[in-house]
Amino acid sequence: MPAMPDDETVANMHTYNLPSHEITEVTEIVAPPCLISGSANQELAQAVAQRLGYTLLDRRIEQFPDGETYVRVGNSVRGRDAYIIQPTCAPVNDNLFELLLLLDTLRRASAGRLTAIIPYYGYARQDRKFIGREPISAKLVANLLAAAGASRIVAIDLHSPAIQGFFDIGMDHLTAIPLLADYLRRAVPRDSVIVSPDTGGVKRADLYARLLDLPIAILHKRRANAREVEMAAVIGDIRGKRPIIVDDIIATGGTIRQAVDTLVREGARPEVRVVATHGLFSGDAVAQLVHPAIAEIVVTDTVPIAERARAGLPALHIVSVAELLANAIHRLHSGLSLSALFARDGAPPI
Ligand code: R5P
Repeated sequence: MPAMPDDETVANMHTYNLPSHEITEVTEIVAPPCLISGSANQELAQAVAQRLGYTLLDRRIEQFPDGETYVRVGNSVRGRDAYIIQPTCAPVNDNLFELLLLLDTLRRASAGRLTAIIPYYGYARQDRKFIGREPISAKLVANLLAAAGASRIVAIDLHSPAIQGFFDIGMDHLTAIPLLADYLRRAVPRDSVIVSPDTGGVKRADLYARLLDLPIAILHKRRANAREVEMAAVIGDIRGKRPIIVDDIIATGGTIRQAVDTLVREGARPEVRVVATHGLFSGDAVAQLVHPAIAEIVVTDTVPIAERARAGLPALHIVSVAELLANAIHRLHSGLSLSALFARDGAPPI
């Protein structure tokens, strides 16, 4: 049973905008936490800060003429736990290095615990050696983050959940799937079927299917090369049904395009919804995804959605993860469980 906080702690909690109903679960607050954004997704960071009632720390991020990154934090952070929001999306190397520099800056400025909030964790696809003489990039990034001073990582829908094990520091793997399912639940016809575009995504598809109480189908995907995929088989009943393709990432759109073509060819209704956590929309993704059978594309704002996608994809809907991240930061800082964030009435636990 946690001890009741004293009057000073309660006063601090009000100062830091912590809800009063959780007062009994917090025992001690030393210095106010702080929130800082890299340059990758400032809109999301701002939305998170607003929900928490925090002001983002002042910081300068500039490029030297030779391309090196310069970082300076404008406020004192001594003794304050810091939460750094930076997805490692494109430009991936710049954003990753900026995050490392922010961590190093805060550590050297004597901040308390450093939590890197990485809504989209780049370099996740190379999570093992597929053939000889390759790096394991996802592990290298994990090592770099820890070496730069992170004591905890928070990520959303990692490409491979096994990446959690690459960290010997705290790692909280959040999911946006319940949020996306909440959005779908409002409008999904009962003759829909959840489709995984590859066998690697079956667990993800199963979670959507359970949350939405829908059947599931699986496409077997073969990658021709790094840029092209080919669909080989459909497992499950999709004939006459409205497919909802669920994936973690939309990058070039090649996987989705192939999946839609395959489903329609195999007898699904040409009214396909596409749902993914991370809408990278790289290369000519927009051209790939303008397809007469795609009724809607739903992604989150873990990465900033490129203007060309906003303008070029008329049926694009963006679900924000700001509330999820604000709640996660609040609960982490207050020593509260994160599982409650994913509970849904009547749904099995995640
Ligand atoms: C692959 O395993 C992932 O889950 C996505 O299907 C893939 O990253 C999407 O890439 P693209 O849009 O380039 O086909």
